[in-house]
Amino acid sequence: MTKINFSEYAKQYDIMAKNNPAYVEIENKVISIFSNLIDNDNYIIGDFGAGTGNFSFLLKKKFPSLKIVSLERDSEFILKFREKIKENDFDRLLLVQGDLLNSCIRERALDAILMVHVLNLLPDQERAIQTIYDALKVNGHLVIFDVGRPLNVLDWGVYMVKNSLRRNGLLKTIQLLRNSNLVAKQNRIFSKGQKTGLYELNTLAEFKKKFDRYPFEFVEESDKYYRCIDNYLLLRKII
Ligand SMILES: C[S@@+](CC[C@H](N)C(=O)[O-])C[C@H]1O[C@@H](n2cnc3c(N)ncnc32)[C@H](O)[C@@H]1O
Repeated sequence: MTKINFSEYAKQYDIMAKNNPAYVEIENKVISIFSNLIDNDNYIIGDFGAGTGNFSFLLKKKFPSLKIVSLERDSEFILKFREKIKENDFDRLLLVQGDLLNSCIRERALDAILMVHVLNLLPDQERAIQTIYDALKVNGHLVIFDVGRPLNVLDWGVYMVKNSLRRNGLLKTIQLLRNSNLVAKQNRIFSKGQKTGLYELNTLAEFKKKFDRYPFEFVEESDKYYRCIDNYLLLRKII
């Protein structure tokens, strides 16, 4: 079974992100969530599976005093992240290259963990959830978005093209198509993996069950993000 090649994905990841209104909608939601959660200048967030750092940078721009630990495993994603660090001179932003399944984040170190489109890709989700639970302070929050329903690559292609035509015109849309071939290929691999069971499919109720074993309070939930293929949960660690 072919798995996603993250390094290939990384090369064009931001082209997809910038041109995808459904991704921007998640960005806006994340800002709104943390506007309500951040209550002091030492608030510290772990961005697990941080990719090219879109969410880490977004949060730093909005909340400059925030501390962020961005954990990312793939070298190509790390490279793209570092290029952005050069462009933005942020303090209190720590990029750590590592596997979140073998993370060395201290227990009860983080006020919040953000995980966007990562859990589903991991071979050992139980272990990931244990790591998240351990790393959070009591009363800390997990903000998680995860793809649970089938990703129809053709349908997403049409969605992106329509949106780009409206916003950028024909020429830029043709460029977009040319420049997103690698991402499209990795999305096809993901979609095929969903069909073969390599990447899990789940309803929101099934997704919530993954967290049942831990003392979390379900603060907010939705199955409407990312054009209704995402499960979103906001959880609070009770003890
Ligand atoms: C679909 S991308 C999402 C990136 C980012 N969260 C975003 O939404 O823009 C998934 C990311 O998870 C990272 N990842 C996958 N497995 C990981 C692991 N075991 N430890 C740390 N990062 C991992 C990948 O390298 C990739 O950057």
